[in-house]
Amino acid sequence: MTVPPPAGRASRAGRAGRAGASAPTAAPAPAGAATSAVSATPAKSTKSAISAISASGLRKSYGSKVVLDGIDLHIPEGSVFALLGPNGAGKTTTVEILSTLIGADGGRARVAGHDVAREADLVRGAIGVTGQFAAVDNLLNAEENLLLMADLHHLERREGRRRAAALLERFELSEAARKPVSSFSGGMRRKLDLAMTLVGSPRVLFLDEPTTGLDPRSRRTMWEIIRGLVADEGVTIFLTTQYLEEADQLADRIAVLDHGTLVAEGTAEELKRRIPGGHILLQFADGGQLDAATELFGAAAPDTDALTLQIPSDGGIPTLRAVLDVLSAGEVEPETLTVRTPDLDDVFLALTARPDQKETVR
Ligand SMILES: Nc1ncnc2c1ncn2[C@@H]1O[C@H](COP(=O)(O)OP(=O)(O)OP(=O)(O)O)[C@@H](O)[C@H]1O
Ligand SMILES: [Mg+2]
Repeated sequence: MTVPPPAGRASRAGRAGRAGASAPTAAPAPAGAATSAVSATPAKSTKSAISAISASGLRKSYGSKVVLDGIDLHIPEGSVFALLGPNGAGKTTTVEILSTLIGADGGRARVAGHDVAREADLVRGAIGVTGQFAAVDNLLNAEENLLLMADLHHLERREGRRRAAALLERFELSEAARKPVSSFSGGMRRKLDLAMTLVGSPRVLFLDEPTTGLDPRSRRTMWEIIRGLVADEGVTIFLTTQYLEEADQLADRIAVLDHGTLVAEGTAEELKRRIPGGHILLQFADGGQLDAATELFGAAAPDTDALTLQIPSDGGIPTLRAVLDVLSAGEVEPETLTVRTPDLDDVFLALTARPDQKETVR
């Protein structure tokens, strides 16, 4: 049985109007004292080699604007894939193509074993889509919204009630089940929206910015739900997000979309290793100590106002030890020492810097 997602749920996804990102400060080239390799934490395992989502050469333009300029994807079953990119990069457009809501101008894609163009109904029967903006019906209460979805999926009345109750419980909405959705907070709406998507037990789930606007606690609840879907039910998740920590926390693999192409793809650790920016920051009590330390480290960047010295570093312990040894040998004592490793924010900002900012990315 094939069950198309209700019209408009994902197609209501609109444009978010967040401010653009600014470029990072470039890190200096590594110093001689900082030469050890980065100790990467093991990548999250990819559970299956079978592709739940694959695409090659996906293209899409609106008028003269090229949004997707040849996108290739291979997302294994039971894994979480995060698509990042600045506002307007084409994340929602990619979700819309893969979930059959719009057609691509070129290229091919298969989702849950079916071709999105030629077997759209089969794809729709296997997927769930939660759009960028919650698409719940304000005139109904939470339970009625879920029962409506159960009807659309042709579930028997008893089974529909059972699933609705289970989902309300799972999303901690049981108490609010009979309250009008118009009285729900943004976080409750988002949870109900995802619960509605899960009524059809999708094998592949598209989540377009699932936690935008949620407070940190609600965001973590949503993460737990997403992790549970993957671990307990083997669902494949394709999510877009502006929260890089979210991608870091959830995704097995991450891709960054910019100017119509995927400019980077890999695990969070792989992406972080591509970006310089890790450093050890030393804070000194006076200018004399700062000058003495600056002489000890060739590639370090002193800030004479803040009385700090920034030494390029991979964040590894051997590098830290080497820096402390050099300080000790030079009889220089900083007041504080801070180790900073690049995070996904650095990766995102470096990879998606606008042309006039590119010179800050090495
Ligand atoms: N129906 C449409 N008609 C014309 N242009 C469109 C349409 N849908 C999207 N676009 C354009 O395509 C580009 C990509 O939009 P898309 O919504 O996919 O970006 P996004 O990466 O999801 O952005 P955001 O982070 O703001 O959600 C934008 O320039 C947008 O204006
Ligand atoms: Mg979007």
